[in-house]
Amino acid sequence: MTGTSVEGAGNSRDERTGTGESKESLTNRQGHPVTDNQNVRTVGNRGPTTLENYDFLEKISHFDRERIPERVVHARGAGAHGYFETYGKAGDEDVSTYTRAKVFQGAGKQTPVFVRFSTVAGAKESPETARDPRGFAVKFYTEDGNWDLVGNNLKIFFVRDPIKFPDMIHAFKPDPVTNIQNPERMFDFISQSPEATHMVTFLFSPWGIPANYRQMQGSGVNTYKWVNAEGKAVLVKYHWEPLSQGIRNLTQKEADEVQSKNTSHATQDLYEAIDRGEYPEWELCVQIMSDDEHPELDFDPLDDTKLWPTDKFPFLPVGKMVLNKNPENFFAEVEQASFGTGVLVDGLDFSDDKMLQGRTFSYSDTQRYRVGANYLQLPINAPKKRVATNQRDGQSTYYVDTPPGKNPHVNYEPSVLDGLKEAEREGKDHQPHYNDKLVREPIDRPNNFGQAGETYRNFEEWEREELVSNLADALAVCHTTIQETMIDHFTQADEEYGRRVAEKLEQVKAEMKNQSNEESLGTIKSEKAVYSAQS
Ligand code: HEM
Repeated sequence: MTGTSVEGAGNSRDERTGTGESKESLTNRQGHPVTDNQNVRTVGNRGPTTLENYDFLEKISHFDRERIPERVVHARGAGAHGYFETYGKAGDEDVSTYTRAKVFQGAGKQTPVFVRFSTVAGAKESPETARDPRGFAVKFYTEDGNWDLVGNNLKIFFVRDPIKFPDMIHAFKPDPVTNIQNPERMFDFISQSPEATHMVTFLFSPWGIPANYRQMQGSGVNTYKWVNAEGKAVLVKYHWEPLSQGIRNLTQKEADEVQSKNTSHATQDLYEAIDRGEYPEWELCVQIMSDDEHPELDFDPLDDTKLWPTDKFPFLPVGKMVLNKNPENFFAEVEQASFGTGVLVDGLDFSDDKMLQGRTFSYSDTQRYRVGANYLQLPINAPKKRVATNQRDGQSTYYVDTPPGKNPHVNYEPSVLDGLKEAEREGKDHQPHYNDKLVREPIDRPNNFGQAGETYRNFEEWEREELVSNLADALAVCHTTIQETMIDHFTQADEEYGRRVAEKLEQVKAEMKNQSNEESLGTIKSEKAVYSAQS
């Protein structure tokens, strides 16, 4: 099996003639030559079609099934292949101090990757200029099997409890009655979820519209663990920093201009840059923290609405990623690509970040529905190393996992009849110990507004202006209670932030009122004009 599914297909490029035309002729999927692809079979050339018209029925019924369900979130995306090269270090330390994951050991070692970038709320062909987080999902085909790092461009998230995710997405997606996206629904939810204030501060600033997929950062957002050979764990956060291509964001006006001409600008930018050999590169950095509650911090380190301050937890470079190959088939590679937060390798582990744990169920669950039970047999999702399971059958089974030379009759374990055996354990297990009541409770240090205020103050003045103006435009169409609650949240984050949004909101509302007065005046005037013309 190779990395891309189109290889090995019947009419590969090798078989093309000098004119660029393939020697191969058209067949159906049964291998029968197709001698007439222009006319269906009919009784006389004007008569009714016949039901035994196998070629036509096969062609049309496959076409009828060309679409699979789009991703419930992150439906619009683009992808590319490349590699990750480890530095063998985390900052100045040998990386093995923290993790035994093989992907990070041995400076200069390369691991193939596939990356999919995306927007979140829009449908599969929606404009790529949306004010929306961008997905940044990386599949590492490591020697120990696959590792997926499913992140976003922004370093934090809207909510910290996974039970809120479906409601959040419903509020951000179009209204179920009108099918229109509406900021009032979004801010209705956000105003009742004060932990979202920090994310909204990033999202409505220029950081909410990256210029394209190449010139943006990436982040794992949630907190993971690194485990070393002794089974000792540290908490870790991952960040992708663009190298030579830099970071670029758009103002709302710039985004509107791009969108008026091109709704696929980010996909096009990525494809064309790779096509002309301008390969985007990112450095992977980690932040590391000891695995405890850190009472000295005014937030919970497992809360994904928070940044870990870089003065206390510096970015440690661990490797770089280069994207140097475009997909050969968008559907096979990008649309069917399936990433999940549960896909970790030895030396990497889950933390108790509630969002991470909630996410981990969701991804493979949706992929079994969206792509099918055997989605891991597809070349884009299968590890590069051989797999050897006793899983069998199900829709679209493509091969069995029995390795050559093993007894194909034994699809169970344990067995003495040359079946598959359990692997040897490498390194000591990390065995966290728990002793607490099972509860449904919020966390103790929510600190919903502190970092939102810091982020506001850290922006440059033009970014603050954009933020205030974008928020006022969105809030202007919302119910007064929602407006008041949001202004209260921004004020708790930073007094100036709240005041500026309130003032701008009044200005936008007054302009909207004037405009609607002028429009109704215009209607009265034109009605009078019609009346006087008639009389
Ligand atoms: C895609 C669930 C939070 C990043 C998805 C998909 C689901 C999902 C069901 C579609 C997957 C597919 O069809 O293949 C959830 C749940 C969350 C959550 C339940 C919270 C409880 C997050 C967060 C991030 C994130 C916090 C950012 C770190 C992504 C990305 C994709 C995605 C990048 C697209 C992956 C791709 O390109 O195929 N998520 N998600 N999600 N999610 Fe989440």
